[in-house]
Amino acid sequence: MNVGERHYRTIWLSDDRQSVEIIDQRWLPHEFRVETIGTVAGIATAIRDMWVRGAPLIGVTAAYGVAIQMKDDPSDEALDAVWETLSKTRPTAINLRWALDEMRRFLKPLAPEERAEAAYRRAAEIADEDVGLNRAIGENGLAIIKEIAAKKKPGETVNILTHCNAGWLATVDYGTATAPIYLATEAGIPVHVYVDETRPRNQGAQLTAWEMAGHGVPHTLIVDNAGGHLMQHGDIDMVIVGTDRTTANGDVCNKIGTYLKALAAADNDVPFYVALPSPTIDWTVADGLAEIPIEERSGDEVSLVWGKTADGRIAQVRVSPDATPAANPAFDVTPARLVTGLITERGVARASREGLKAMFPERG
Ligand code: MRU
Repeated sequence: MNVGERHYRTIWLSDDRQSVEIIDQRWLPHEFRVETIGTVAGIATAIRDMWVRGAPLIGVTAAYGVAIQMKDDPSDEALDAVWETLSKTRPTAINLRWALDEMRRFLKPLAPEERAEAAYRRAAEIADEDVGLNRAIGENGLAIIKEIAAKKKPGETVNILTHCNAGWLATVDYGTATAPIYLATEAGIPVHVYVDETRPRNQGAQLTAWEMAGHGVPHTLIVDNAGGHLMQHGDIDMVIVGTDRTTANGDVCNKIGTYLKALAAADNDVPFYVALPSPTIDWTVADGLAEIPIEERSGDEVSLVWGKTADGRIAQVRVSPDATPAANPAFDVTPARLVTGLITERGVARASREGLKAMFPERG
């Protein structure tokens, strides 16, 4: 997507062809900073401390982490060690493990001296594949937006609510939940996006709002608790969110608060769609509530908030009493029964074992 006049992906190889460059998302929307990372430790920090975030982008970043390791030490031991190190950085998003598994599966049969070059090549392919998957998700989601628009008066706006940032910044390009929105805008369909602020880290307020503004998509920021009220008043035509892990039976794990939106949507007959590339499906897990590890992050993310001060500094302020403890589960699970459809690169699947199997028959 474009930042100003220039097209950016969220991660790319540096001129030295060994390090990667990433957009450091901790500073958005106030500052656009690019960081160069050339070590596995640096990659681990960038994922764990959320310089990069969003399930697909975490996976691609980890794939490049494996490539950096193979350049330094292409042995079997080093390959296993980098898998271990990076797989622990963020536990919920399955794309991380998917990318690490894929890199190891691809590299293991090769002779060590062939691994570095092959690893950079495969990481670049995974990045390119992500762009293609998201573009296809965009086309499939666009069809849904068109259907909703067709039921409205000509020229009437389609109002879409989204949670967290499942946008370009969470992937390599296009985003998952945002891809249909961008394509609808390009197609001239009037869309307007209600952006949940997404406490505690405010990915909606900071990242999705920035993306929407950058691409000229009409949008309004709302507090997380406003969605139900807007749905009761007929102000939302559909919800589209992303996911960090979707189970084989269609349960959806996504940013904390997603479940409450799904409940409100069900109560108000608002269609609730989840956009996901197939690497986000965890075919080994059936029951999302029982089996998906939910990342517990520092309570500081709840008690302290980053923002820009009146004199232009980026600073953190405390919003709760110094001694108040805070809990910070980062994700929740929306049961499949609350999901209208899963927008994948192959089409829109029912959120059920049968629906996903019909869409991905090779997964048995
Ligand atoms: O904690 P984050 O910011 O990595 O969480 C991101 C989300 O929950 C996204 O909605 C999800 O990864 C889908 S991104 C295409």
